[in-house]
Amino acid sequence: MFSSNDYWRRNYRDLQAEDQEIIHRVSRFLADALAGCPPVQRAIDVGSGTNFYPALLMLPWTKQILLADFSESNVSWLKDQLAYDGSPWPWRPFWQEMQKAKEYSDVSKPRQRLREACADEPGHAGIEQLSVFDLPKARWNLGTMFFVAESITQDPAEFRAAVAAFIGALTPGAPFAAAFMAGSDGYPVDGTRFPALPIKSDDVKRHLTELGVREPSVDLLNTSKRVRDGYAGMIVATGFARDQQRRES
Ligand SMILES: C[S@@+](CC[C@H](N)C(=O)[O-])C[C@H]1O[C@@H](n2cnc3c(N)ncnc32)[C@H](O)[C@@H]1O
Repeated sequence: MFSSNDYWRRNYRDLQAEDQEIIHRVSRFLADALAGCPPVQRAIDVGSGTNFYPALLMLPWTKQILLADFSESNVSWLKDQLAYDGSPWPWRPFWQEMQKAKEYSDVSKPRQRLREACADEPGHAGIEQLSVFDLPKARWNLGTMFFVAESITQDPAEFRAAVAAFIGALTPGAPFAAAFMAGSDGYPVDGTRFPALPIKSDDVKRHLTELGVREPSVDLLNTSKRVRDGYAGMIVATGFARDQQRRES
């Protein structure tokens, strides 16, 4: 059983240097990809865990968001957190980091906007218990998946299948951002050790290219301060899902 609170405490109670770096890179990528366009209809964050910042990164660019996770405890944690209206807002430091970009500072009530974006539309938006492997094809116009594909398996084929299912759930040409732990030997949550596949940036780049991703960009961050021991750094990948023409050919 995944302890949602412990995972949140270890990783997201405070804003960490690596997340700061990811926020800068992904907000810049999304602004370059989407600034000046009307918001897309719907976005998805796959394997949200207890992390709202991928959804917040997508907030200025989309009307609706689905947070999908396989774990029942994470789904109920996410629902409780989204409904929580107390002060301080735990995600304020993350949002303040995003507000360095104009499109984010233009969103006047991000907490309320996030609730509206995550209003239930079954199978499309809301918070749902769903496996990455069961995602429908070509439904979301924007997507994020942070620390999921390499953190749910030790099998390279399953890792690749999870990345393929995420990219496959996006509409042709949809922008996406994904994050991965490089060289991870697993991670602890409340005394239980969860397995991971020790991947490298090149594995991610090769696989995204095989999936027909347009403009794949894959970087290993060199932030010196780490969240924990037992990994070689964080990888940030961005790009655009394979477009229609190439999908049909
Ligand atoms: C290492 S955590 C990452 C959580 C979060 N995205 C983050 O950035 O911290 C991996 C997440 O994947 C979820 N997960 C495990 N198997 C999954 C599956 N088959 N489909 C979707 N999510 C899954 C877990 O419940 C967990 O929340």
